[in-house]
Amino acid sequence: MTSALLPTYVRAPLAFERGEGAWLVTEGGERYLDFGAGIAVNGLGHAHPHLVGALTEQAGKIWHTSNLFQIPGGERLGQRLVDATFADVVFFCNSGAEANEAAIKIARKYHAADGHPERYRIVTFAGAFHGRTLATLAAGGQQKYIEGFGPKVEGFDQVPAGDWAALEAVIGPETAALMIEPIQGEGGVRVIPHADLRRLREICDAKGLLLIMDEVQTGVGRTGRLFAHEWARITPDIMSAAKGIGGGFPLGACLATREAARGMTAGTHGTTFGGNPLAMAVGNAVLDVVLEEGFLDRVARSGLLL
Ligand SMILES: Cc1ncc(COP(=O)(O)O)c(C=O)c1O
Repeated sequence: MTSALLPTYVRAPLAFERGEGAWLVTEGGERYLDFGAGIAVNGLGHAHPHLVGALTEQAGKIWHTSNLFQIPGGERLGQRLVDATFADVVFFCNSGAEANEAAIKIARKYHAADGHPERYRIVTFAGAFHGRTLATLAAGGQQKYIEGFGPKVEGFDQVPAGDWAALEAVIGPETAALMIEPIQGEGGVRVIPHADLRRLREICDAKGLLLIMDEVQTGVGRTGRLFAHEWARITPDIMSAAKGIGGGFPLGACLATREAARGMTAGTHGTTFGGNPLAMAVGNAVLDVVLEEGFLDRVARSGLLL
């Protein structure tokens, strides 16, 4: 069958008409137990009644306004994320790549605002995946994704995770930040040891670098904590989230301390759709469930059983 879609995926010859919890159902009624969860997205399963209720209720009121106006649902979701994490401020967007773009911009602007615009380089780790925009591809550093798309975006240096000598050697006067997934996802579910995450935090503190945690795949309860870095008892300066945060609705977020985000004044960043009322209604509904007493403990216990 020829398709009008750009052939960037080798799609399975299978389509689903609906989802029910952990199950996907085809038009013909065939049921599949969904271990893929839309690539780590449908953390609360399909058609969760609380999420469906929040989305449909909001759909009948207002879908979209510009970020030039107050969006009460966004104020609320932002405050709840701040209350539940290390962060002081949140920027909402539509995807993981956009959340990482925001993280990169915040880190660079932090140093520029401090009179050091030359500190723009970001160290990433072999096997990383940070998204498909030109900058996040450069951050991920995978040649097969970069080739053929013109000059690689400047300013990313990559070292193998755990190679401390290589890391020390690559950090220089132009380095702004380190960026890491606490568990590499696309890289093959590779867990970064907690001791290594703590050591990265120490290196950042010693050298005046920002620590960016990419929790696009690991966040919002997937490891039994709200965010995976919590297991290592450290906090980043900047963190990206997406996937599970919208339970299937396109939503991303970049969280930061007020100090790390000090360069981000009015006009330095923006988005048309990010944080719109529909997305905020669903994001709040996701948090209602994930932050409910005992929910994350149940996730952790189920993880151990599995
Ligand atoms: C760790 C990580 N960062 C970023 C991304 C990019 O997210 P998105 O596809 O929503 O742009 C992904 C997607 O798989 C990811 O796993």
